[in-house]
Amino acid sequence: MGTLWHNVVAVLVAALLQSVAVTGNFQLEVQVVRVRDSVDDCGWWPEVCDLYIDEMCLDPQFEEPGSEEEDQDCSLIEYENNLDLESGLPKTRTLSVTNQPWPVDFHLRIEVMDIDTFNNDDHIEDVVVSESLNTSSEFSEEMDYRNTPNGRITLSMRFRVRCSGEYEGPHCDCLPHNDGHYSCREDGGISCLPGYTNTSNLCRQQDYCVGEVCPSEETCVSNPTSYT
Ligand SMILES: *[C@@H]1O[C@H](CO)[C@@H](O)[C@H](O)[C@H]1NC(C)=O
Ligand SMILES: *[C@@H]1O[C@H](CO)[C@@H](O)[C@H](O)[C@H]1NC(C)=O
Repeated sequence: MGTLWHNVVAVLVAALLQSVAVTGNFQLEVQVVRVRDSVDDCGWWPEVCDLYIDEMCLDPQFEEPGSEEEDQDCSLIEYENNLDLESGLPKTRTLSVTNQPWPVDFHLRIEVMDIDTFNNDDHIEDVVVSESLNTSSEFSEEMDYRNTPNGRITLSMRFRVRCSGEYEGPHCDCLPHNDGHYSCREDGGISCLPGYTNTSNLCRQQDYCVGEVCPSEETCVSNPTSYT
């Protein structure tokens, strides 16, 4: 019983340490290339289809609108500057997120509004994007996003996600040389710099046999503080 209890505590402490250690910085660029509105064709009375995007909500978890588990609490970012879709596309909005790793699989909820002259601005619908996207210097292919079956708005969009600050790696959560001696690998792991060992210790362990310290490599055995 005592051992079980210890294990439970150890697991909880490990989970807590891990959640505290979560970090990362990234920027997601959302570019709206074209917009189609299946109700208003904008030809007859331009004011009626003056569209803009109000809120964008980035979340790795939330469920499709209308589903039972629907959770739209924007765990990563909620961005509320109007993005005008009426005057010239493409338009790009940059979502900057700090202290969070890039989730790769993400959901983006985009609130499309209609400015009209008859009453208050109308909320038309939320277009939801569920994508998997790797960090890249290139924008993704342009794709059409429309809520099925009865979505009114089609947004043609492309995305780009890049790490910001010093962060690197597929989740933008690796800081090279952060309190250790390593570089970040493409697959998310780390590689020790020459002269350092032990990735599970963030390469803090010096390998005293590398470099000119040791008289002969064949006889050199590195131990934690020196060589013999
Ligand atoms: C992201 O990168 C991984 C590993 O390189 C690859 O397997 C995967 O297909 C990529 N996903 C996308 C959406 O490009
Ligand atoms: C590497 O570091 C880990 C974590 O500090 C430690 O438990 C382990 O003993 C080290 N391995 C070696 C070979 O020194």
